[in-house]
Amino acid sequence: MNQLDTNREQWNTRLGFILAAMGSAVGLGNIWRFSYVTGENGGAAFLLIYVLCIILIGIPILMAEFTIGRKAQSDVVGSFNKLAPGKPWVVAGILGVASAFIILSFYAVIAGWSVFYFIQYLIGGFRTTHADGYGGFFGEFISSPIQPLFWQFLFMAMTVGIVYVGVKKGIEKSNRILMPLLAILVIGLSIYSMTLGGASEALSFLFTPDWSALTNGEVYLAALGQAFFSLSLGMGALITYGSYLSKKESLPGAAVSVATLDTAFAIIAGLMIFPAVFAFGIAPDSGPGLVFVTLPGIFENIGGFGQVFGLLFFFLLSAAALSSAVSLLEVAVAYFIRKFDWTRKKAAIIVGAIIFVLGIPSSLGNGPLNDISIFGLEILDAADFLASNIFLPLGGLIIALFIGWGWKKADALEASDFGNTGIGNAWVFVLKWVAPVLIFIVFLASTGLLDVILGWFGVES
Ligand code: PFF
Repeated sequence: MNQLDTNREQWNTRLGFILAAMGSAVGLGNIWRFSYVTGENGGAAFLLIYVLCIILIGIPILMAEFTIGRKAQSDVVGSFNKLAPGKPWVVAGILGVASAFIILSFYAVIAGWSVFYFIQYLIGGFRTTHADGYGGFFGEFISSPIQPLFWQFLFMAMTVGIVYVGVKKGIEKSNRILMPLLAILVIGLSIYSMTLGGASEALSFLFTPDWSALTNGEVYLAALGQAFFSLSLGMGALITYGSYLSKKESLPGAAVSVATLDTAFAIIAGLMIFPAVFAFGIAPDSGPGLVFVTLPGIFENIGGFGQVFGLLFFFLLSAAALSSAVSLLEVAVAYFIRKFDWTRKKAAIIVGAIIFVLGIPSSLGNGPLNDISIFGLEILDAADFLASNIFLPLGGLIIALFIGWGWKKADALEASDFGNTGIGNAWVFVLKWVAPVLIFIVFLASTGLLDVILGWFGVES
């Protein structure tokens, strides 16, 4: 194992690094997942707790990942081996690589659906003649044995292509173009959406809290989980990106910028989706189908310009998914490059191919493998459950504990650029106590263990 790689790649500029970290954070989680989770959890009150989670837990762990990566200058496993040789903290790294494989395997399936929709709009407008409308059309598409696989393959090929080219030319360059484009598209679409007639209802849904929602413990758990997923936390994506950073940058500024932009993207995506949802009388809590079933119907209702709206929307969703997928693949590729001394090109192709194959059951789970269920879930949902609800919180918990308990406080303060300041000490305190306790509660609840424990006491939730 070559621990000290003097030729390690570096970001070209500080902005390039921030945009790449942003690209990782902004993805299906901000648009598809954020809108339906916010819709299901009552809107404004959920949004408030979500923002608090980002500030209190998300930013401190984001800082922890950047700090570990930049200090160690290695992949997620190598980083823990280097900073704490022979200690069990490396479990977080192993979980991280495993999470990258699992999350990307199903992420590429959903992203493939999005690319398919984009192509539908591109080749002359998307209007279905299916008897059951867009719901029927979508159901038929995802249950076909070949079609979704083709789009999943195409999406994985694009992801591999970017990682293959490397940190500076591939990842940094593509994000430099994609991120500003996404920002312009999402702002433009939200302004258009606000003219549809549902604006005032959407604004009050998103910004006037119904405090009674806060008596439901699940709202807090949903908000914390969404913060984790959306910021790409807990699996070392940001350790890996931090490792391509030179010593000179200021980490706290970068962490705050990434978290602020990620949250702004989610909120603006909400301003894009909810006015349309209310204008056309759709229930905000209609669930994960919101993007793929409901929105095409909305675009059709809008008339001629709606087709352009649809084209832009699914381009935006695919592009956002691509920059997140790149960071997922990079976690695994960086590990294989170091561990097996592979070239970047070889690692990108082999790891990408394995992840594509791993994702096939997730894709077929809506069709030929419909009858298979794991923990009572469809294959794709089971993969999501295992990675997002178990591995990510566990990884985040270990990362927080590593800075809080596994590292000398003075070293952590120095490596983070905080120095021995009040805010630096508060950061270590949060990682030592606040974040672990909260993550532990989320972990219990999201794995269903809380229900099991409550069940022992005869409490049904
Ligand atoms: N943050 C991404 C999203 O919101 O879609 C998903 C993700 C990317 C999660 C990278 C974890 C990760 F390491």
